[in-house]
Amino acid sequence: MRLFKKRRDIQGFITDLHDKKQKIGFVPTMGALHAGHISLVQAARQQSDFTVCSIFVNPTQFNDPKDLEKYPRTIEKDLKLLEQQGCDAVFYPGVEEVYPSGTSSPPHYDLGRLEYILEGKYRPGHFQGVADVVSRLFYTIDPDHVFFGQKDLQQCKVIERLIAMNPDFSRIRMHTVPTLREPDGLAMSSRNTRLSPEALKKAPAIYQTLNYLKQQLAPGDLTTLLETARQRLITGSFRPDYISIAHTHTLEECTYWDGHTPVTGLIAAFLGPVRLIDNMELV
Ligand code: PAF
Repeated sequence: MRLFKKRRDIQGFITDLHDKKQKIGFVPTMGALHAGHISLVQAARQQSDFTVCSIFVNPTQFNDPKDLEKYPRTIEKDLKLLEQQGCDAVFYPGVEEVYPSGTSSPPHYDLGRLEYILEGKYRPGHFQGVADVVSRLFYTIDPDHVFFGQKDLQQCKVIERLIAMNPDFSRIRMHTVPTLREPDGLAMSSRNTRLSPEALKKAPAIYQTLNYLKQQLAPGDLTTLLETARQRLITGSFRPDYISIAHTHTLEECTYWDGHTPVTGLIAAFLGPVRLIDNMELV
């Protein structure tokens, strides 16, 4: 497995691969890898000739500096795991390599309503940071296929929009890979490593609440269902940011369900100091 820290080095290497008509599969990550990331790497290996993974904890997408500071960093373990999984190359740049002109005057991306709803409402600026770093990584890696986890469904929609908006990215095919879960239903996430053993026992309540929404969903007004779900989470020691039933394609909130439109349940909630998110297609 090749390790690159400099943009121009990996760019040169990838240009050669494109010249040899190799298809590049790209998995952007912030490290602290778990089985969910590995499923992205496996999907990339299946779809492409050469798999590149990036490990970069992007400062511009953290609206809370404490969250950035506490983000788990496990580079040695990550590299070993990627090598074992047959990843071909890793891009592991420093901040100055990704942001040579600094991070103080970021460009603005037109992300429409996605920027302001759900995660966007509770993490202002987050998706601008994601759009910026992913855009920079796409220019560096020049991939044919890119792989993102469905756990971050809103992020997947942002990336789809980023690709659709920029003709330079027209070659890129986006793959949304289903969420991997622990046997108790907890969605795999790098943040789970910050949960205490006691919190780990409580954490699957998010998944159980999503299942509850799925079972109880019925045509008509959704207010009571959502309120009951919120109370379940609060009883389970969570502090919910949002519990939403949204139109699957736009993620716009659905307050009245017509009985056939595809909808998805989305939850973000704190368990102690750790903020967890998850989602599930309900219909
Ligand atoms: O999903 C993540 O880990 C990050 O948001 C990403 C896509 C690597 C951008 O920093």
